[in-house]
Amino acid sequence: MPDRVARCGFTSSLAGRIKISGSKNAALPVLVATLLTDEDCLIENVPALEDIFSIFHLLKVLGKKVRFSGNTAKITGKLKSGDLPERVVRKLRASVLVIGPVLARIGYGSFSVPGGCAIGERPIDLHLEGFRKMKAEFEIAGGRMNFKKRKLHSTTIKLRFPSVGATENILMAAAGTPGVTKIINAAKEPEITALCDFLSQMGAKIKIEGNTLLVNGKDRLSGCRFGVIPDRIEAGTFLIAVSAVGGEVELENAEDRHLRNVVKKLALSGAKIVKCGNLIKIKSPRIPKSVSVETAPYPGFPTDLQPLWAVYMLKAEKAAEIKEKVFPTRFMYIDELKRLGARMRLRGNVLKVGKSSLSGAHLLACDLRAAAAMVVAGLMARGETTVGNLFHLFRGYENFFEKLKSLGANVSIK
Ligand code: EPZ
Repeated sequence: MPDRVARCGFTSSLAGRIKISGSKNAALPVLVATLLTDEDCLIENVPALEDIFSIFHLLKVLGKKVRFSGNTAKITGKLKSGDLPERVVRKLRASVLVIGPVLARIGYGSFSVPGGCAIGERPIDLHLEGFRKMKAEFEIAGGRMNFKKRKLHSTTIKLRFPSVGATENILMAAAGTPGVTKIINAAKEPEITALCDFLSQMGAKIKIEGNTLLVNGKDRLSGCRFGVIPDRIEAGTFLIAVSAVGGEVELENAEDRHLRNVVKKLALSGAKIVKCGNLIKIKSPRIPKSVSVETAPYPGFPTDLQPLWAVYMLKAEKAAEIKEKVFPTRFMYIDELKRLGARMRLRGNVLKVGKSSLSGAHLLACDLRAAAAMVVAGLMARGETTVGNLFHLFRGYENFFEKLKSLGANVSIK
């Protein structure tokens, strides 16, 4: 499919109401966790996105059947294979999440080692250390991780860093392994809590005690019906976009409790935000105050919103600093934004952003969130901005341009 390009023009304000979709990063592990049962699972509020279609493909490669209509996925059938080819893994990094459920169910497998990534180094050593503690045995050869047939054992695993993916992978392995597995220093993102809820509905018993997960697993889990939580990163993207472009917008179906840190920073910048039933209402400041942020695991400021914050601060009255502590090199977008006239200077993992007057240029997106940030910058710039490599954006935002257009953004796709 030829890649599409977004054409963005200066937009003075956004207004109206949009509905936030189901969370991509919550849906992905839940869909993978259906490998833990032979019974039917009905997953609702699944966003229709490229990454989700890739996970459907992966489930089918492993033997499952998938029917998807109207944001509901019905997953049936049995896990038949533990062999994950490179072409599948290359398309979607999150495909490494199948290792946990596959090992718990069939005890062996051969998975391609994931390659590099545009947001920086993304090792999976923490995932593998966890499996090793659960008595998995594997060797890495020819770009593949080959796991010998072994039964996993419940145990205690202490993560050096609260990695989202490692927590999810080990959590799924533990849910399908009889006995109690303790995961210390686990990630606490809402997507982890959602996965715990799903696995509990399947029959695992899970207790969350601060940063520790106590997982009492079973080798036979059952099917269930489950609704995916709203996408906090999509909601955060629109909250920051409205603050940056200007205007007054209502977000339906958004959870402000998942966005406390972002809402706090937006309020400090002068945006007015109120929660009203299932709506979050936001009104932009006339000129934002400069607010520095530092990314951190949840409940800290999300790394996924860091490029959007950088674009927002281009409008602030004074310079702001953005410190990236989760993916320290997640700044590949800077040179593209400089083409618009953005004043940005990077020192190590700290980006200094100064008030800038932007004018249109052609940009190339380098990853999903940077793509969204570039489109927002395009709406703030005088003249026409085009953003290419848009496939990055379609991987993770459902109906992004339709939603922006319904709010009055001057944007089209060609
Ligand atoms: C998840 O990635 C999300 N992806 C990312 O969203 C998000 O940016 C990230 O969590 C942080 O919130 C999905 O949920 C599919 P990590 P993940 O393991 O699980 C290091 C998006 O745009 N690390 O918490 O890969 C790693 O290098 C995506 O939607 C190890 O050192 O993130 C990084 O510095 C992009 N060893 C840090 O931990 C490991 O074994 C955080 O990674 C694993 C991770």
